[in-house]
Amino acid sequence: MIKIAPSILSADLARLGDEVEQIRTGGADYVHFDVMDGAFVPNISMGIPVLKSLRKATDMFLDAHLMVDRPLRYVEQFCKAGADLVNVHVEADSADNLFAALEKIRACGKKTGVTLKPGTPAEAVLPYLDQVDLVLVMTVEPGFGGQRFMSGMLPKIRQIREWINQRELACELEVDGGVDAETAPLCIRAGADVLVAGSAVFGKEDRAAAIRAIRGEN
Ligand code: DX5
Ligand code: ZN
Repeated sequence: MIKIAPSILSADLARLGDEVEQIRTGGADYVHFDVMDGAFVPNISMGIPVLKSLRKATDMFLDAHLMVDRPLRYVEQFCKAGADLVNVHVEADSADNLFAALEKIRACGKKTGVTLKPGTPAEAVLPYLDQVDLVLVMTVEPGFGGQRFMSGMLPKIRQIREWINQRELACELEVDGGVDAETAPLCIRAGADVLVAGSAVFGKEDRAAAIRAIRGEN
């Protein structure tokens, strides 16, 4: 079954514990935690202290998406703060430093991920593909919630799915940006198995119904 990872970027952060409890009972699989540093992306969101508090409030799987320059500097702190998976952008540093970051995450006993911005070709994932637990394909420019889904990214999702299958990897394929009940079926058909959704979940009164709608259930 397809996994749903609501992005708390669109939640009411003053009530974060309640918001996460609503998506847990609503059937979400992961909590997607967007970290923006104001340098890698033109926006600032939240970081390590918020993650630490969230870790105390829930036992859900915490999927940390680091939109951060040179993430090697911080991955250990995110692991220690309670992330279950730490995801770094392939554009954020040299390959050597990214390999070192992934190694650090694994050494902390956590899962690893790499992310591709819309302008980054599918091939950029190849050096990392056989060693990560998850690949994330961005379907908006990272930095803001509530943007429109870029359907031009569907061939990239299909290509990466093909590589994962050919190599028989356990790696999950996640899609992030503009995913809602209309665009989710496109992602699923292209081969995604984890869907991030911010505004399509937290913008709705009934979070359980929103999650079911993205899954294609009613
Ligand atoms: C964008 C973030 C996304 C964002 C998704 O930079 O990485 O996770 O919160 O929000 P929606 O689902 O509203 O596009
Ligand atoms: Zn994200």
